[in-house]
Amino acid sequence: MNITSLRFDGQHVVVVGGSSGIGRAVAVAAEAAGARVTALGRHTPIACDLTDDASVVQAFQRTGAIDHLVLTPGARVGSPRLEQLTDAELLTAYQVKLFGSLRAIRAALPVLAPTASITLTSGQLARKPSPGGLLKGSLNAAVDAAGRQLAKELAPRRVNVVSPGAIDTPLWGADGDAARAATLARVGGTLPVGRVGRPDELAQAYLLAMATGFMTGSVIDVDGGGLL
Ligand SMILES: NC(=O)c1ccc[n+]([C@@H]2O[C@H](COP(=O)([O-])OP(=O)(O)OC[C@H]3O[C@@H](n4cnc5c(N)ncnc54)[C@H](OP(=O)(O)O)[C@@H]3O)[C@@H](O)[C@H]2O)c1
Repeated sequence: MNITSLRFDGQHVVVVGGSSGIGRAVAVAAEAAGARVTALGRHTPIACDLTDDASVVQAFQRTGAIDHLVLTPGARVGSPRLEQLTDAELLTAYQVKLFGSLRAIRAALPVLAPTASITLTSGQLARKPSPGGLLKGSLNAAVDAAGRQLAKELAPRRVNVVSPGAIDTPLWGADGDAARAATLARVGGTLPVGRVGRPDELAQAYLLAMATGFMTGSVIDVDGGGLL
């Protein structure tokens, strides 16, 4: 589905995390809108492990000039309460999503156009506390804050954050898994829209952030009303 008529012909979009889920949907939508798209991740032709700064730097030495940088990485971690939360889980989650996104933006700076946009990904748990939400909630809040800081620091480049609610991606488990379907149905049933989101509808928010020249420092909630 394409709800926008935005075009990105002649523009190069790099999606860090473009090999799966939300990032893959952004890559598909940007390509359909005319962009040349490069996906980065551990499983992409230009491989990039966000936990390894040298790998990130090398990847951005191969991308060429970038008009729009989109960051959708995330480690598949659970929702442990503090007593069960291990250092390894904490480190992995922060290494990939927060530190990894910052490493990627830093490595991209030499090839980022002066008018470039950067779009980060946080998540509704940043502002929706719940037992077990500590890890993802604190991490997403840090991404929201980093986006606003960078909007000032990297101006006139624009920096925005998309904050998704529950979106049907491989993050929730393998397709065909009955437990996964039941969880998504249960979560979706609690939302005003009555269902979880699809990656292709979320992708349109990224395209909007990329194309809207007056938008920077914004956190765009796309969560089916989950924050209400
Ligand atoms: N799905 C949801 O319901 C939801 C809700 C709120 C927020 N979010 C956020 O949205 C973002 C995307 O989630 P998703 O659902 O699309 O998850 P996903 O399908 O698991 O995709 C995660 C992406 O992160 C990349 N990645 C993981 N570890 C990496 C590493 N060490 N180095 C480089 N790339 C790495 C993966 O690529 P490789 O495997 O190729 O490395 C993959 O492309 C995450 O930040 C997540 O927290 C998702």
